[in-house]
Amino acid sequence: MHHLTLTPEDGERLAPLLAGIASAYSVIEDPELIRRAPVLARSLPARLLEFLEEFRLGEPSALCVVSGLAVDGAALGPTPEHWRDSQFGSPAFRQEIFFLLCAAALGDVFGWATQQDGRIMHDVLPIKGHENYEIGSNSLQHLSWHTEDAFHPCRGDYVALMCLKNPDLVETVVCDAGDLDWPAIDVEALFEPEFTQMPDNSHLPENAAESTGDPAVDRLRARSFELIRSWNEHPVKRPVLSGDRLSPYMALDPYHMRTDGWSARSVAAFQGLCDQIEANMRGIALRPGDCAFIDNFRAVHGRKSFTARYDGSDRWLKRLNITRNLRGSRAWRPAPDNRIIY
Ligand SMILES: [Fe+2]
Repeated sequence: MHHLTLTPEDGERLAPLLAGIASAYSVIEDPELIRRAPVLARSLPARLLEFLEEFRLGEPSALCVVSGLAVDGAALGPTPEHWRDSQFGSPAFRQEIFFLLCAAALGDVFGWATQQDGRIMHDVLPIKGHENYEIGSNSLQHLSWHTEDAFHPCRGDYVALMCLKNPDLVETVVCDAGDLDWPAIDVEALFEPEFTQMPDNSHLPENAAESTGDPAVDRLRARSFELIRSWNEHPVKRPVLSGDRLSPYMALDPYHMRTDGWSARSVAAFQGLCDQIEANMRGIALRPGDCAFIDNFRAVHGRKSFTARYDGSDRWLKRLNITRNLRGSRAWRPAPDNRIIY
């Protein structure tokens, strides 16, 4: 793991920076704040920026954690019961700003029209009724390991998690491609576009608000849901691996993959990769103030099961998707500076 702990001096430097930004904006979703994030990020401590750049460019590990950000647990108040509207009047606004600036040092943050009502910064918290459903807001069922948005060609380079609360030290699980025995895996077979990957449940219309309140956005979003439906009915065949054959990038979400129609070699190669991933899965319990940046090309991630409390003290994380190539999704976005994929 690529790990940095903020020092008291870093904290002293960050406090006025974050307070100043927090007083100029009222909500993390403010498009102007998100637009300015890469410029504001230049005011982060140089050693933090160097640390993030080392992770981005050198890929020393698939997991990067910045810890030591101050979180006042008492000031946070109860964990919201749902992600809807949790961004307004946020008790964690300064932490959200820090998280956004670190993300902006790695790439461009973006969102999905089909996920959490098109917000950029998501909440990860247990939702009543989702306990046994395969989605990030479940609890009693573990969240199966996956590449974030593996089904989509515009998936992020990084999925980032900032921990606000984790009272039961529930573990996030991560497998680093660097830990796998690649010569023992049928890499050639996995580079072939033979693998059907379905969209995951977080992108389904039943997990979205009926209307965003903007008819033009609703129309675009309806088109996006339609595309996702068509991918469910007619899955696109893609490779599981890409990049360097000696140290490949991965994209797979076995829970949302259907193996029917695959050749015997494809099935065996896929099973061989999954077995290695299972054997090399590592757990990490994020603590309040930890910001974890998971390389979505070099790692798969998931979460262990837990019993939600629903008393306001539940595990609560913030999540960001980050891309190094916003232009790569231009066909999916209505304007060059629009960060939502429709
Ligand atoms: Fe995920």
